[in-house]
Amino acid sequence: MQQLQADFRDPRCARPVDFAEPDAPYRVVGSLDERGFAVVAMAEPGPPEAKLAALSAALRLGSPYVPALYRFAETKEHSASYSDIRSDPKDRHPAFSTTAGQSWHVDGLLDAIGHIRTTILYCVRPAHRGGDTLLFNAVAAFAELRDKDPAAADALCSPDALSRRSTIPAIDVSTTGPVFSVDGRGDLVTRYTDNETCTWNFSAGPPGGLRRALAFLRAATDDPRYRLALRLAAGQALVFRNDRLSHGRQSYEDGPNGRRHLVRALYTEGPTAPT
Ligand SMILES: [Fe+2]
Repeated sequence: MQQLQADFRDPRCARPVDFAEPDAPYRVVGSLDERGFAVVAMAEPGPPEAKLAALSAALRLGSPYVPALYRFAETKEHSASYSDIRSDPKDRHPAFSTTAGQSWHVDGLLDAIGHIRTTILYCVRPAHRGGDTLLFNAVAAFAELRDKDPAAADALCSPDALSRRSTIPAIDVSTTGPVFSVDGRGDLVTRYTDNETCTWNFSAGPPGGLRRALAFLRAATDDPRYRLALRLAAGQALVFRNDRLSHGRQSYEDGPNGRRHLVRALYTEGPTAPT
């Protein structure tokens, strides 16, 4: 997997692909293979849903996927194919509706590791201040750990290493699984998350391994080879491999000209270019 060799210090990483260019789908797919994400500049204003539909069709992602967490009666209010992410005091979602920062996570708290392959965030309006989206090349950091400390890497692959529990007040559900795994295609996948939803099982795997692994990953999230902060402009979309990268967000402030507004869609497919 090319992404294991990616270096996020490369200034080409954040350079947007112009969706109006005829070779845009190939360039986006190439960027996702190389580094796990791409920034895409969408042409002219228009409804965010239409932008997401055009982009997902060009990348052959199929229909948007509603995560398992949002299929309960208690969480149905969050079950849209396209989720609005903006501050809203009336919305009780602990992450979508606040201006607080978000720690490292993958989308799909209850879904099996690797199930949600792609996330797209379309920016309608950036924050007045702050609000960068943060990306962590989790699989590349894991590959480095596997070379340096195989027992620690083994602990991360233990099937009971990490439980994640929903923090949505209406419902108490959780799922347990490995932090890294190899999928049916032989590719590394991750659900590395380090936030208030997590319970780590430090008895999983070789003794002491999970503690060392977690310390390594936490340090790696500050390593500029693996960590990138991106500020999306209005009309830009960030496409990323949710099964290979972890992501987060800086806290932000809304300004007098409107609230920060992103629209999110999830897909179980990885992007492929037309043949
Ligand atoms: Fe997220």
